[in-house]
Amino acid sequence: MQIAIDGPAGSGKSTVAKIVAKKFNFVYVDTGAMYRAVTLYAKINQIDYEDEQEISEKIPLISLNFIPADPVQKVILNDQDVTEAIRSQEITNNVSLVSSYQKVRDEMTERQRQMTENSSVVMDGRDIGTTVLPNADVKIFLIASVDQRAIRRFKENKAQGSSATLDDIKKEIVARDYKDSHRLISPLRKDDDAIEIDTSNLTVDQVVNKILKIVKTRA
Ligand code: C5P
Repeated sequence: MQIAIDGPAGSGKSTVAKIVAKKFNFVYVDTGAMYRAVTLYAKINQIDYEDEQEISEKIPLISLNFIPADPVQKVILNDQDVTEAIRSQEITNNVSLVSSYQKVRDEMTERQRQMTENSSVVMDGRDIGTTVLPNADVKIFLIASVDQRAIRRFKENKAQGSSATLDDIKKEIVARDYKDSHRLISPLRKDDDAIEIDTSNLTVDQVVNKILKIVKTRA
């Protein structure tokens, strides 16, 4: 069983994807974390984010692993726990550029598909329904107003001690959505057979319940 959950930044994908995965005992794959880890690899190795060739050449040297843990799964980049480091503002600001590179996308897409070979999955990202798992049993496309998404991120960030203002976060979300939906390869878009859910005025439980109902009709 493959459940694809796509949508823009802050639409609630990872929160609901994790819960849905737990309910069915499926593997949860956070593909955004993979692109973030590649971006962090460039930073650690002092590779310019604009240097597509150098980043592309280094891709085979990047090992990525997820370790299940509560409340967030651990992300391991070449034996280093980078769970927190991949969420920094610098990585957030540069991940859309790094993830627009052909070689980066080809390699991550391949690795994401491999993760579905022996398990049922809930995979969240931007191009899961359109590119990574075009035959997924269920495709969900989550949306929410920019204001709602910014408020959610602001609260999350504040709880983690970030000093970013609501306005900063709103600008960052708008800029990232623009880049993610205008890149040439696998841009963020709703696939024709994806079911759109606007989460602006829904609680997490309400969104999860809608998805569970959809999954049960396809199982
Ligand atoms: O989901 P998250 O916000 O952590 O994703 C970070 C970034 O990774 C996105 O803004 C996008 O640039 C990239 N991404 C992608 N394709 C995916 C998942 C994420 O290009 N499937």
